[in-house]
Amino acid sequence: MKILLRFLFMLLVIFNPNAQQTARAFTGTYGINYGRIADNIPSPDKVVKLLRAAKIKNVRIYDAEPSVLNAFKGTGLELVVGLPNGFVKEMSANADHALNWVKDNVKAFLPDTRIVGIAVGNEVLGGSDNEMEVALLNAVKNVYNATKKLGISDVVQISTAHSQAVFADSFPPSYCVFKDGVAQLMKPLLEFFSKIGSPFCLNAYPFLAYTYNPDKIDINYALFQPNEGIVDNKTHLHYDNLLDAQIDAAYAALEDAGFRKMEVIVTETGWASDGDENEPAATPSNARTYNYNLRKRLAKRKGTPLRPKKMLKAYIFALFNEYQKPGQSSEKNFGLFKADGSISYDVGFSGLQDISAASSLLSLKV
Ligand SMILES: *[C@@H]1O[C@H](CO)[C@@H](O)[C@H](O)[C@H]1NC(C)=O
Ligand SMILES: *[C@@H]1O[C@H](CO)[C@@H](O)[C@H](O)[C@H]1NC(C)=O
Repeated sequence: MKILLRFLFMLLVIFNPNAQQTARAFTGTYGINYGRIADNIPSPDKVVKLLRAAKIKNVRIYDAEPSVLNAFKGTGLELVVGLPNGFVKEMSANADHALNWVKDNVKAFLPDTRIVGIAVGNEVLGGSDNEMEVALLNAVKNVYNATKKLGISDVVQISTAHSQAVFADSFPPSYCVFKDGVAQLMKPLLEFFSKIGSPFCLNAYPFLAYTYNPDKIDINYALFQPNEGIVDNKTHLHYDNLLDAQIDAAYAALEDAGFRKMEVIVTETGWASDGDENEPAATPSNARTYNYNLRKRLAKRKGTPLRPKKMLKAYIFALFNEYQKPGQSSEKNFGLFKADGSISYDVGFSGLQDISAASSLLSLKV
């Protein structure tokens, strides 16, 4: 009997491809990044109203700010918190610190605040801090072990997001591979993520690709507008938009590295509505077109040409314009909403004023 049970158990383990894939960090296909590098944006409780009115359920933040986690309590919104880059080395070197961080910033808010993921660092690989790049894997493992110890590993998924800087050539998409120098750190990380069922998280910006190569890229291709598209000369697949091509480039690099089955999710994508002189594509009209068409693209619940069955999921960057972000002007102007809570352009969402007006009308009626 015991032997039979053990045999059955083994069968279950072997035949259940999702055996370890218990954490589920995305509902539907549309999510948003709630960045807070601005001291003039609406308070977290108003943000909850904005998100609910827009019916956006998947939210990422770049830290684990308690005022945000408290405001999200009981709302049903699903939140991925961030372990900032500044903590990566410490969490890598010290498993106890990782345990305490997860206990204080995640476990303490569960289950009332639905924290469904921890992003460990952001765009670490391919960046400029080699020590941090080397530390990333162990930080990820320590944070994962902490969720195990605290009994929350089946609700909180561990991941880390990558920029396009981890890839060598990404055109045509099927030729994409990880850069030398990145590949040897990326492979063990992918090994671990594939074991715990985490996806590959990609920050993908057709805006940037177009801004750097305006002569080579048709802006309609970058904006999901009607255009001829491109054909990948190896797979013969046709691409009618740049975002799909960027995602399939990531799938190609994963396949080349031996991770054909790993899912790619887009953790950031967006288009700036204003920028510096050398960023002429950053206009309200282009930003509206990109974000409007992206919403339609995601609502189709379809995969990409190379992975037609893997429904595309993306978090838009970002909720608000953030005037205190460093870098080029475009960085400060990715918001679907302005700092005062009004819409930056119309993609079908309502501004904070309109929502408040509507709800006070309702309360008058009662
Ligand atoms: C995580 O936990 C496992 C099992 O308890 C252990 O074997 C492993 O060494 C731990 N990893 C780290 C990085 O502490
Ligand atoms: C496909 O296109 C790339 C880039 O233009 C080129 O380097 C490669 O040789 C082409 N491959 C084939 C099979 O035509």
